[in-house]
Amino acid sequence: MDSKTAKGSILVVDDSPEQIEAVAHMLYQNGFKAQLARDGARALELLKRSKPDLILLDVYMPEMDGFEVCRRIKEDDGTSRIPIIFFTASNDEASIQKAFALGAQDYVTKPFKSVELLARVNAHIKIRRQAKELEKSYKELDSFCYTVAHDLKAPLLSIQKLSEYLVQDFYDKLGEEGNELVGHIQNKSSEIVLLVNRLLEFARFSDMSLKIEPIDLNELFHEVFEELMRLSPNRKIQFAVEKIPLVSADRIMIRQLIANVLSNAIKYTRKKENAVISVGSEYDGNMVTVFVRDNGAGFDMRYSEKLFKVFQRLHSQNEFEGTGAGLAIAQRIIQRHGGSVWMTGEMEKGATFYFRLDGVKK
Ligand SMILES: Nc1ncnc2c1ncn2[C@@H]1O[C@H](COP(=O)(O)OP(=O)(O)OP(=O)(O)O)[C@@H](O)[C@H]1O
Ligand SMILES: [Mg+2]
Repeated sequence: MDSKTAKGSILVVDDSPEQIEAVAHMLYQNGFKAQLARDGARALELLKRSKPDLILLDVYMPEMDGFEVCRRIKEDDGTSRIPIIFFTASNDEASIQKAFALGAQDYVTKPFKSVELLARVNAHIKIRRQAKELEKSYKELDSFCYTVAHDLKAPLLSIQKLSEYLVQDFYDKLGEEGNELVGHIQNKSSEIVLLVNRLLEFARFSDMSLKIEPIDLNELFHEVFEELMRLSPNRKIQFAVEKIPLVSADRIMIRQLIANVLSNAIKYTRKKENAVISVGSEYDGNMVTVFVRDNGAGFDMRYSEKLFKVFQRLHSQNEFEGTGAGLAIAQRIIQRHGGSVWMTGEMEKGATFYFRLDGVKK
């Protein structure tokens, strides 16, 4: 059976010849294609050449143990999304916990039962396939978004230019009413140009490749805050950042996320006399959760599912200006890092934005 007709390809990593043979036999019997590696180094070598749908990994192996193999697989952008099922001893609670902490998806205890192993393999392959399809649809949608925005931009800029000429060359003929109408056309087309630019920005962050490195968010929050405050020199805001541990992320993208979130906190506290924005974090040894809290206009939690959708807003343009793209871009940035975002708020009391990212392991 070749890899196209197989139900899925699986890399089995185990130093015991009996175990590896038993697993390979069972997989083959059930229509899977199996690649076998007797040690961690060989497994990593095979992964450079082909990417399986799933990895079955033994914990205890001489030289490089399963945890180290898992760590390296999850560290590499090319392999990090392949699901890993560990083989562990049934009473080995510590190993099971460590495997999950390193990003493994599941475990099966030894000696394994074929029915159980097969059920888990099938389930994880199905989830992986669905995730791949979802990724593909996202990509298609992003590129559609980009093409539409890109193709709209040139004719829109022409409309703006043409209406400028109209005013310049025909001011007298247009009269007061005519000039007012052209003014409306100019305002509306500027609004659409702004939306199109935000859509292009959204597509850019969906597409650009990630350069993961340790980032000091403390510095970055202060830097971005000061930059944004230069645009509102008359505002007085009490701003504090509690010490945040290092995170592993792409600096350019995270800077943009911080800019979008802080610009919201600054904007939506505009009507408060004593505006306060505080940034803090929690660290569980693995992931860092950062929050940005403000005491501004807040929002109604009943409509919170709208917050992260492109061009959806919970405040009117008259109350607070905006396009409704900032949080959609922020969410996409965090999704690209495999993290998560959410927000809580209360009308007139304020809002808190949370994002969760990989920490830097010590
Ligand atoms: N800190 C906040 N306090 C209250 N409401 C908020 C806050 N941040 C976001 N929102 C609500 O979520 C909506 C979406 O936010 P988002 O940043 O995407 O858009 P925006 O600020 O309206 O426009 P822009 O594209 O310029 O960022 C906002 O319109 C607002 O209703
Ligand atoms: Mg915004």
